[in-house]
Amino acid sequence: MRILSGIKPSGSLHVGNYLGMIRPMVESQKRGELFCFIANMHSLTTLFDGGQMANYTEEAILDLLALGIDPDASVFWVQSDVPEVAELTWYLNNVTPVGLLERCHAYKDALAKGLAPNHGLFSYPVLMAADILAYQSNVVPVGRDQKQHVEVARDIALKFNSTYGEAFTLPEPEIIEELSVVPGIDGQKMSKSYGNVIEIFGAEKAIRKKIMSIVTDATPVEAPKDPDKSVIFSLYKLFASPEAAKTMAGRFRAGGLGYGAAKQELFEAIWEYFSKFREKRERLAGNQDYIREVRRKGAEKARGRLATTMEKVRKLVGVV
Ligand code: ADP
Ligand code: TRP
Repeated sequence: MRILSGIKPSGSLHVGNYLGMIRPMVESQKRGELFCFIANMHSLTTLFDGGQMANYTEEAILDLLALGIDPDASVFWVQSDVPEVAELTWYLNNVTPVGLLERCHAYKDALAKGLAPNHGLFSYPVLMAADILAYQSNVVPVGRDQKQHVEVARDIALKFNSTYGEAFTLPEPEIIEELSVVPGIDGQKMSKSYGNVIEIFGAEKAIRKKIMSIVTDATPVEAPKDPDKSVIFSLYKLFASPEAAKTMAGRFRAGGLGYGAAKQELFEAIWEYFSKFREKRERLAGNQDYIREVRRKGAEKARGRLATTMEKVRKLVGVV
């Protein structure tokens, strides 16, 4: 089984990215061969500062290695280090109906907001299809918001296969249901675009401040509270042990647990959860030669893995 997933380097990673996508990806390394890449070409659709782009990419390499991607066991690379994917995108563009892309949420949302989307954003799902299909991926673990894009990749694969002949495996999205929408500090879905995130590798003070600013109602300390209606508890149970979560739920229901104290415990749970990853990240950041080597070897491995597919595709479309 080939499992593939990519992550856009468009800012600091948050705990929603971790639970919705990175942790399942790291765990999938036990199930089969993982193809994991940094989708920097996708970030170009919305980020127009080259210096920042390069920085974000470097940060994302450190983040993923620190969070458990094993570059020896898996194929781990930066998207733009494999130019064949841009080439494949062009072949796929020509079997992709415009109507299919017009139905995609990211594009529709941009239109609904009165923005004038660029062509890169419009054809974002085609580049994503090239990422997935180039490596003959079977399974694509993503958050719920990316499910449609994986389905589009499947439609494009079907269209290519029926136009030219069998070239691509049909991929399946894989969603981790109970974690698929991690709430942010305002109770909406945690997302960079809502400004409600808790960063994984943020400074202690900043993370504490974010958590202390979680929106709560005016229920007094003594009153019993429903843990399942609280953002604090919803986040706490994702990071604490099952026993600790059960204890906190009991204290919510019994009354006497104030929101301030619960937030403090949530901070401790999150800080502790990521402590070993923080230490690993610091060690890696001090060893840039190793990081460069990981990047070089990763690109070489990835290019090796798509070579056969690319040869076949070129032959089928008739560019050789
Ligand atoms: P953001 O919404 O912050 O811009 P991205 O769209 O870059 O995040 O998401 C990167 C990955 O993390 C995607 O697979 C996405 O589904 C997942 N993800 C993002 N936010 C959440 C969340 N709140 N809960 C679960 N998964 C999430
Ligand atoms: N679009 C994905 C996101 O926003 C990133 C991505 C690019 C991706 N190519 C992919 C995810 C291929 C899975 C498979 O997070």
